[in-house]
Amino acid sequence: PKKTVVGPLVGAVVQGTNSTRFLVFSSKTADLLSHHQVELTEDFPREGWVEQDPKEILQSVYECIERTCQKLAELHIDVSNIKATGVSNQRETTVIWDKLTGEPFYNAIVWLDLRTQPTLENLSKKIPGNNNFVKSETGLPLSTYFSAVKLRWILDNVRQVQKAVEEGRALLGTIDSWLIWSVTGGVNGGVHCTDVTNASRTMLSNIHSLEWDKELCDFFDIPMDILRNVWSSSDIYGRIKAGSLEGEPISGCLGDQSAALVGQMCFQEGQAKNTYSTGRFLLCNTGHKCVFSAHGLLTTVAYKPGRDKPVCYALEGSVGIAGAVIRWLRDNLGIINTSEEIETLAKDVGTSYGCYFVPAFSGLYAPFWEPSARGIICGLSQFTSKNHIAFAALESVCFQTREILDAMNYDCGIPLSHLQVDGAMTNNRILMQLQADILHIPVIKPSMPETTALGAAMAAGAAEGVGVWSLKPEDLSVIFMERFEPQIKATESEIRYSTWKKAVRKSMGWVT
Ligand code: G3P
Repeated sequence: PKKTVVGPLVGAVVQGTNSTRFLVFSSKTADLLSHHQVELTEDFPREGWVEQDPKEILQSVYECIERTCQKLAELHIDVSNIKATGVSNQRETTVIWDKLTGEPFYNAIVWLDLRTQPTLENLSKKIPGNNNFVKSETGLPLSTYFSAVKLRWILDNVRQVQKAVEEGRALLGTIDSWLIWSVTGGVNGGVHCTDVTNASRTMLSNIHSLEWDKELCDFFDIPMDILRNVWSSSDIYGRIKAGSLEGEPISGCLGDQSAALVGQMCFQEGQAKNTYSTGRFLLCNTGHKCVFSAHGLLTTVAYKPGRDKPVCYALEGSVGIAGAVIRWLRDNLGIINTSEEIETLAKDVGTSYGCYFVPAFSGLYAPFWEPSARGIICGLSQFTSKNHIAFAALESVCFQTREILDAMNYDCGIPLSHLQVDGAMTNNRILMQLQADILHIPVIKPSMPETTALGAAMAAGAAEGVGVWSLKPEDLSVIFMERFEPQIKATESEIRYSTWKKAVRKSMGWVT
């Protein structure tokens, strides 16, 4: 059969905590032509520990690329039209591997993992009572969330790694580094690099110079020679060594939340997006200025769209558990069989009937940074059913957005007039309506919710030396389609929100 002519295409790997996807876009229209998704295993070997197998993650990337290419072929689209690939990834998750064998020395320690609480307490002895000790250099509070403490734990606890570091065989990276090194050749010349957005989440990179910082490395006692090149978010990092995309460049790399900000076209100062994935992440572009929060938000690198282009920063409100609460209801409680079923359960009752669910499974992140918190479900009576718990789970995601939005509005001074949203959970219409009700501003959802992938594809397609992405943000502004308006009175949302705050207080100090 005749091949369909589509012009240059750009691929995007979206490597999240819950799943890996590969998506292919037209560089001329930004239409999504094909994609494939693989769900990933998460291991919880002890209370508070969260690990993933780096090789399963890598395998899932290869599988998604090959399956997507097969689907394109079935559509009579020639895969040789794919001229570039971008990578966007779960951030902070830390991998350390052997450059001689390509084998990871230990499982990836996932961003949600809490095992480094004692590591942090030891570090805090150096700087009593000051959990913002490195904030002016990194934009981040000292927390189990970021890579430096995970790496410190590995160096202290995995003997093999200590030896490998002494022998100069150990390579360290966030997931982007592990994937790019592996697909560009691995032991046969793989490129060891990261981009400025991912580096900014390690706590070892200086947010002003965008380089590894000797003082930070000394503070965490991390040998600098296991870290490698920090690149911009749009650059040819290397070429894929095998499979259907062999020889094509990897030319975009962004932490997933930065990629979503780009994919939502939030290029102006003051523009913000809220992504509902495993966690929930609200980022507001602050332009070329590093804005430091007085209300528990992070300062982070938004993107740097080329080697010689200026960097943009963002204020970020990160919440650890959003989609993960639905997976927990499915896998741990078994009250739903598929994630989609939560919408039906919640819709059947339309209220939590006074039940509040604070899913602080990994402590509370922004704006509290409270590792002692744990999940609670409260306000139960004999009337409470699984439907009410399902509704309360959805409401928890919305209340946590409200906490972040309030902090963001205080820090920025100008309240957001609407909320741009994306991520898999935005397909849940009950959730979106609840979100508009609880924030009491309109919630706007793009008709093409794959904005993380779109951001990574844009970075890859526009890179110097690739240059196939010529669409301007204004060409894509039509992506904003569906609007959810608040349907309850502001006083009602305030009452519900104040009860939520009571529940949050109860979740704190649960572990000591
Ligand atoms: O900071 C963690 C974040 O990047 C994880 O993203 O998509 O797995 O929720 P996701």
